[in-house]
Amino acid sequence: MRILFLTHAFNSLTQRLFVELTTRGHDVSIEFDINDTITREAVTLFRPEVIVAPYLRRAIPEDIWQNHACLIVHPGIKGDRGPSALDWAIMEDETDWGVTVLQANAEMDAGDIWAGDTFAMRTASKSSLYRREVTGAAIKAVLEAIGRIEAGGFVPEAQDLSVAFRPLLKQEKRAIDWAADDTRTVLRRICAADGFPGVDDMIGGKRYALFDAHPETGLKGAPGEIIGRRHHAFCRATTDGAVWVTHLKPAATPEERSFKRPASMALDLDGVPEIPEGIGGETWREIRYAEEGGVGYLHFPFYNGAMSTDQCKRLQTAYLESCTKDTRVVVLMGGGDFWSNGMHLGAIEAAESPAEESWKNINAIDDLCHAILTTESHLTISALRGNAGAGGVFLALAADRIVAAPHVVLNPHYKNMGNLYGSEYWTYLLPKRVGESGVARIMGRRLPIGACEAARMGLIDECLEAGKISQYAQTLATGKNITDLLAAKRNSRSKDEAQKPLAEYRKAELEHMRLNFFGFDPSYHIARYNFMRKTPVSRTPLFIASHRRKGEK
Ligand code: COA
Repeated sequence: MRILFLTHAFNSLTQRLFVELTTRGHDVSIEFDINDTITREAVTLFRPEVIVAPYLRRAIPEDIWQNHACLIVHPGIKGDRGPSALDWAIMEDETDWGVTVLQANAEMDAGDIWAGDTFAMRTASKSSLYRREVTGAAIKAVLEAIGRIEAGGFVPEAQDLSVAFRPLLKQEKRAIDWAADDTRTVLRRICAADGFPGVDDMIGGKRYALFDAHPETGLKGAPGEIIGRRHHAFCRATTDGAVWVTHLKPAATPEERSFKRPASMALDLDGVPEIPEGIGGETWREIRYAEEGGVGYLHFPFYNGAMSTDQCKRLQTAYLESCTKDTRVVVLMGGGDFWSNGMHLGAIEAAESPAEESWKNINAIDDLCHAILTTESHLTISALRGNAGAGGVFLALAADRIVAAPHVVLNPHYKNMGNLYGSEYWTYLLPKRVGESGVARIMGRRLPIGACEAARMGLIDECLEAGKISQYAQTLATGKNITDLLAAKRNSRSKDEAQKPLAEYRKAELEHMRLNFFGFDPSYHIARYNFMRKTPVSRTPLFIASHRRKGEK
């Protein structure tokens, strides 16, 4: 079918849906919801059989939903209506939730139901639920709805309008009362507002939005008091414990739109005691090592998959430490939501000199890549349970084996960030995996790639359910041929090194990056500025709007 996505952004859910539908042979094109005239133009150009709105913030123009089948993906169960569906579900401690695919009509979320799916709620942030449970349920429901339209004869069920419409969840309802709220309440409030809009709060007389909170049971203090810091995060006391907050967005000013950044780059934490990780009790650990059956697992669930200079350095230290253990295999687990999205663009944007910080950050991530690439003692596996983008994908390729769960979406290209050239030894790693023609296709196409397609094209080794990672790693670690595999790996690396040293690849990549950061063309700085501040776009990029690429079809 010809399916037009009308969407606010090409976000993770939209990307996954794009991958799933195109894999099934549908012709999918995308138009951002910019204004009604442009939407009408897209419909005329593409003549879609179905319009799907995976992530829409405004109503579809009446003349469009009157004349075309328009399916709205609503992140709520049957009967739920309103713009803050997931936020309310978290705030009200729902135990089960779901996604409903509704036909657009004159009233928000009130159209007939084409399909739906439910899931058990997990104690997690809104964005984490959105990236995992909501996305999974939405894929199932949209595929079902499309199937029903294709087959014909299905009569959609009426929406249950007896359930009250839930309005936008405003900051007054989200606010934390530090003198009265316990840890559970504080976490619930921050989770319900993460990654957008955050919970507005006052710290030291200034207004910030809070993001990414974690419980702490080993520390206590006067409720509301900042009682510790660790890396870039701070710890604030609640009535029965404390919470760690890792990211803040200072309030916008009339002159400046604000953006999210590591908390220590927004707050003065001088004099706040540094709290080591091993204090006992439940605490926030950004990097965690675990061992089982001769395999080491390194978890690094960095917020939004963004890796700052400091995070890369700490991960490198933890990685090198994991390679001193009496194991044969190290699995790089990343986080459950993202494996990695490369350099921390928020930390870079907030730095005194973004160009200098970009340089430090890319070198730190390159050092980490180098450490993985030159490991002789262990076999390494990148196990992707969450998406990866830009430098994060190439960091994954530094391991000996790369596996990704079937739901994972990869964005192995840098161009969207102001034509960034990229580093992470991609000029060495990518051709080795996909050949020169594959490189041109992947880097030039700029489209998301599903894990199974990535395995088919050789970008990764295998599409593997997350639950099978440990079995995969243990089979490798306990296999009789592990010594041979390690020897073969050392051999192949030294042959490659003799042919062209890693240092040369890095030098050439960084020459391009130096120009991106310090050169005459400001594209990367402008793209990063807009990305971090979520500047609305004025048109849909042609690489996703196939209906606007005249003469190509
Ligand atoms: N640095 C800082 N923040 C990042 C980030 C990065 N490298 N990559 C993603 N994020 C943040 C986004 O700002 C967004 O923040 P939010 O919590 O305020 O919503 C969040 O992570 C999710 O990103 P989003 O773009 O909404 O996710 P997605 O799954 O729809 O798209 C990517 C994933 C990877 C395509 C997209 O995030 C991207 O292009 N990231 C930049 C990658 C990059 O250029 N890295 C630097 C070069 S190595």
